[in-house]
Amino acid sequence: MPVVAIDGPAGTGKSTVARRLADRVGAHYLDTGAMYRAATLAVQRAGVAPDSDDVAPVVAAAEIRLAPGPDGATVVTLNGDDVSADIRTDAVTGDVSAVSANARVRELLVELQRAHADSALLVVEGRDIGTVVFPTAALKVYLTATPEARAERRHRQNISAGRESVLDEVLASVNRRDHLDSTREASPLRAADDAVLVDTSDMTLEQVLDRLTELVSERI
Ligand code: C5P
Repeated sequence: MPVVAIDGPAGTGKSTVARRLADRVGAHYLDTGAMYRAATLAVQRAGVAPDSDDVAPVVAAAEIRLAPGPDGATVVTLNGDDVSADIRTDAVTGDVSAVSANARVRELLVELQRAHADSALLVVEGRDIGTVVFPTAALKVYLTATPEARAERRHRQNISAGRESVLDEVLASVNRRDHLDSTREASPLRAADDAVLVDTSDMTLEQVLDRLTELVSERI
């Protein structure tokens, strides 16, 4: 079960890159951020504060499923309900770092993530894939970009998805999430020692894809 681990902060183009790479190399694709988002939605629906200890039993009782959708995107269900759009709201984005800082929540979701590995090549994107979830991954990539470049990308994505967006607010949210994700005690965001660093600030999507496809053919 060869795994390609793609980690990095928000707005590096990680999701698009991981999905398109999986498509190019005929691999399955797993978006672990979507799992943390679904867990956060479960917590919100239960009326539990995202930073309280009560989040773990809520997540343990929630049935979170990820399945490939018609256009290569992931369909996420929570207790049988399609929540693919609901997990992308600002409300969920605002609380997800707090929920994902809970060590028990991480244990539960890591187990779910590992269950996706089978005989097929799997491209997995997240924050701790190369360091914790699949430490023996055949290829580890850490995507980076300046906070400004990342905020600009998120802002453009929001606009094209019809969501209201203010660039300064997106930048503040990117910086806040980076800080929370990289300073938390449980599995902080960091590059694995053996990860290949790719700075996407001045690269087009096609250039990033070409670089990663080259790495996959060299290593796998
Ligand atoms: O990738 P995405 O922006 O959807 O991730 C949402 C949040 O989920 C991240 O900001 C982080 O707090 C959390 N996350 C995580 N570990 C992962 C993937 C995501 O903690 N492997």
